Amino acid sequence: MAETSVLTRAKDAILAQGNLPRHVAVIMDGNGRWARARGFPRILGHQAGRRSVRESVEGCLELGVRYLTLYTFSRENWNRPPSEVAGLMGFLRQTLREEREELRENGVAMRVIGRPEDLPEEVREELNRTVDYLGDNQKLVLSLALSYGGRMEIVDCVRRIAAEAEENGRWPQSIDEDLIRRHLYTNDLPDPDLLIRTSGEMRISNFLLWQLAYAEIWVTDVLWPDFRKEHLFQAIADYQKRDRRFGKVD
Ligand code: IPE
Ligand code: IPE
Ligand code: MG
Repeated sequence: MAETSVLTRAKDAILAQGNLPRHVAVIMDGNGRWARARGFPRILGHQAGRRSVRESVEGCLELGVRYLTLYTFSRENWNRPPSEVAGLMGFLRQTLREEREELRENGVAMRVIGRPEDLPEEVREELNRTVDYLGDNQKLVLSLALSYGGRMEIVDCVRRIAAEAEENGRWPQSIDEDLIRRHLYTNDLPDPDLLIRTSGEMRISNFLLWQLAYAEIWVTDVLWPDFRKEHLFQAIADYQKRDRRFGKVD
């Protein structure tokens, strides 16, 4: 009861303040450490992070944040032991299956950024099914970064632009920031305003290299499986106090 009222107060304060981030991106880190601290296998840490995802989605819906992007599996994560990768893929598939009904009821749409073509076919099918099932829901766009690498995204972007330029001969004068933006995996998403990273690591680990240019960064020592709505609200309340200058003077 007391906990609920603290959360409600935090939420009301954020809503009264007004300047919400339009897009929140999260590097969900620390699952392995969370499991190790309990003597569990790493996969249990990933599984425990599911509640944190649910709370983050709920929190965004309650506040009216329109875009939430979760760093779910990086290209570099393919270098983990095959058993962990297989465990993660199976878990992702199961989670998509079990969560999509509620996501649909809550007005959430899903997008995938990265290279979903690298994923096992069963996972790709489950993703497609979920994206289709959620259709063009409007309340929140939940983007999953899967087999995602920021440098690879730029490589893919340049390849696409070069292929088009070869066709239309408008090379290189037609290249500007907007053209690049439109050829990134995130072409229909605004840039993140707020980047959250859990587990205390002070790095971006090849996430959204282009898009994070002016994001406010918020790092917490909390491990992802312990991340709750209250932490999301804390991050957003901190964000609201930041002075975003974009290189200008006040
Ligand atoms: C984040 O937790 C989840 C993924 C990268 C898939 P980790 O698995 O990286 O957890 P730590 O960093 O080893 O604690
Ligand atoms: C970043 O976490 C990737 C995801 C959260 C999916 P990592 O645990 O892979 O990053 P590093 O190795 O600490 O940089
Ligand atoms: Mg990690």
